[in-house]
Amino acid sequence: MSSENRLDALIGRIVADDALHAKWLNTFSFLEYVGFRKIVKSQRAEALSGAVLNHALEEGRHALGLKKLAVKLGGPELDSYAPEALLCGDEAEAYFQDLDAACDEALSDQPEAERVKLVYCYVTWLIERRALGVYGAYKAAIDGSEVARKLDGLLAEESRHLADVEGWLQQGDAAFGERSRAFEAIEGALYARFIEALAGDLARRATQATPASA
Ligand SMILES: [Fe+2]
Ligand SMILES: [Fe+2]
Repeated sequence: MSSENRLDALIGRIVADDALHAKWLNTFSFLEYVGFRKIVKSQRAEALSGAVLNHALEEGRHALGLKKLAVKLGGPELDSYAPEALLCGDEAEAYFQDLDAACDEALSDQPEAERVKLVYCYVTWLIERRALGVYGAYKAAIDGSEVARKLDGLLAEESRHLADVEGWLQQGDAAFGERSRAFEAIEGALYARFIEALAGDLARRATQATPASA
């Protein structure tokens, strides 16, 4: 089964259970927060544009919006990023950090300022494409709900982030075709690893929730 089909099956299980669903929302919030933090920490102030600052702030706002939805559904114990308030939080962060590290490593031959910009653009490009797919599949599964309506604004902003960096990469990186294909393959493998971990986690929870027959 492809990672995409697998995701649809996992989302179906998650949204059928409010406690899991709240953790799922909180995990999205956590990833948005990691994105916000990564932009703020990686970009040097002397080269920071309004567009990049706006991108960071929008990711921070996405983190907060999703956090509020998680707490509304799951209660005050969701108001942190503690492991028990997340679904595969460590694996979700590893997906993001390992992708960033792989892009950084692949671009290590570039001059510092160019490398920082390229890593930011490629990681954003990869993550936004994945986010649009995952948020889109999730939204389809909860169609008509309050959360689905709230995702519309977030998806519009993610689409703009993607268009911004894609425009820059197409114009500014002569090696875009080659690099984007190589990075897509890395991202696909890291995403598949995350989906595997999520499937294993849900299977374990289902076993624990079903008492063994006598
Ligand atoms: Fe976002
Ligand atoms: Fe974004």
